[in-house]
This record gives sequence, structure tokens and C-alpha cells, in this order.
Amino acid sequence: MPALLVTGANRGIGLELVRQYAAEGWSVLATCRHPDSAQDLQDLAAKDPDRVELLPLSVTEPGEIEALPRRLGDRPLHLLVNNAGLRPREASVLGSVDTASFMEAIQVNALGALKVTEALLPNLQRGEKPLVVMISSSLGSLARNEEGGDYGYRAGKAALNAVMRSLAVDLNPRGITVISIHPGWVRTRMGGSHARLSVEESVTAMRSVLGRVSLADTGKFLRLDGREEPW
Ligand SMILES: NC(=O)c1ccc[n+]([C@@H]2O[C@H](COP(=O)([O-])OP(=O)(O)OC[C@H]3O[C@@H](n4cnc5c(N)ncnc54)[C@H](OP(=O)(O)O)[C@@H]3O)[C@@H](O)[C@H]2O)c1
Repeated sequence: MPALLVTGANRGIGLELVRQYAAEGWSVLATCRHPDSAQDLQDLAAKDPDRVELLPLSVTEPGEIEALPRRLGDRPLHLLVNNAGLRPREASVLGSVDTASFMEAIQVNALGALKVTEALLPNLQRGEKPLVVMISSSLGSLARNEEGGDYGYRAGKAALNAVMRSLAVDLNPRGITVISIHPGWVRTRMGGSHARLSVEESVTAMRSVLGRVSLADTGKFLRLDGREEPW
């Protein structure tokens, strides 16, 4: 059974990643901040206890990140999806950018993904054709920013893409592929009810792209149609 670890798996895109990969026969380590109150995730795990395992993980808690490799032991990991993300309203509007919220956006969206990846390298190296996926955003694209605003989130996703590029270079000799992907505009708590795609549509398309990615693609910032997003 190939194994996947997802962060921010209690709702939205993360939860749907768990649902679809488990249905496809993967062993899924579903991480979230509060597993005890993650009802949808608990329901998935109860339905498929051999495939879905819940683990506590806040990507800003060094102790929880350090505990991950101990919890996994020598289990191989084929896919890591750094999905946890934060788009703080308090760091969005010029004139009222809250410093702590801006820093938290960087910490969750970029540093968290780096530290989780760093911690799981031994497990990824045991996997077959390991792949690390950063759930980024077109809002992190510098070239496409023509609307402004969203300071914390845009900076967080741009920083995530920078982290992704360095990881892609550093991990290439170890055969680990690293990419960023924009999941589209998706109806979740973050994307809102008017977004274009359902979580099912986004994750179905994403799985199709991820299934075709190889080491030759490492370092790319992809869209759901498999083409590259401008930086
Ligand atoms: N929806 C869209 O249109 C869209 C577009 C582009 C990119 N994205 C990206 O897609 C990813 C998933 O977002 P979504 O749309 O599914 O939004 P969502 O429903 O708001 O989910 C965000 C997830 O991130 C988790 N999270 C936040 N801070 C965390 C932390 N410190 N540690 C661990 N988990 C944390 C949340 O957990 P809690 O429930 O504990 O807060 C939640 O599970 C994000 O990276 C987002 O930036 C979404």
C-alpha cells in the first residue's frame, strides 16, 4: 500500500485528499491540529481503519513536528502533501496589516511546510519515487498579482514557492520530487461559497496531475490542468 501524509486534513481540500486517496487504496496519515474534534475525519477513519490514521499536528508547533518521525518509525512515505494553510483577514488590507497575523501567515504557509518536510525526509527516502507537494496558490504568483492586497497570504505562498524551489534542488540527488500546485478556486471555508470548484473536482484533477509527475518535473509550480503557473 503506498502511503501518504496530509497536513490540515480535518476539512476542505485536506479532508477530500484523505477521502480520495483512501478510496484508491492508499494508507493515509491524516494530520490536523485537533484530531479529537475532527468529526468528519474520525468518520472516515472509522469507516476505513486499516487505511486512515489520525495524528495530531499543528505545523507551527516544533514539538509536534519533531514527534512525527518517532510516530512513523521506519514506515516509508510515498507522498507528502503540505496542505495546511492560513489566509488571515487581519493581514490583508493596506493600512491595517497586523504584524502577528502577517508573521503567522508566513509561519503556517511556508515555514510549516519546510519543517514538516525536513522532519519526514527519512521516511520519504524509504518510499518509492517519493513526491512532496506544496498546496500553493496563484495568489502567491508575483507575475499574476494585479489586484494587490492579501499581503500576508500572498507573501506566505510566495515564500512557500521559494522553499519548494530550494527543496527541489537539494532533494534532487536523493530522488525526491518536490512541486507546488495551485488547487484552483475551491468552495471551502477559505475559498468561500462562490468559488468555481467543489473539493471533489479540485482533488480529482489534482490527483490526476500528481499521478503524472516525475523527477523531471521537480521544482515546477503547476496548475490543475498540469501546465505551469507563472512565478
Ligand atoms: N480554497 C481555495 O480556493 C484555495 C485556493 C488556493 C490555495 N488554497 C490552499 O489550499 C489549502 C487548503 O485550504 P482549504 O481551501 O481547504 O481551506 P480551509 O478549509 O480553510 O482549510 C485550511 C486547513 O489548514 C489548517 N491549518 C491552519 N493552520 C494550521 C496549523 N498551524 N497547523 C496545522 N493545520 C493548520 C486548518 O486547520 P484548522 O481547522 O485547525 O484551522 C484547515 O485544516 C491551503 O494551503 C490553501 O492556502 C485554497
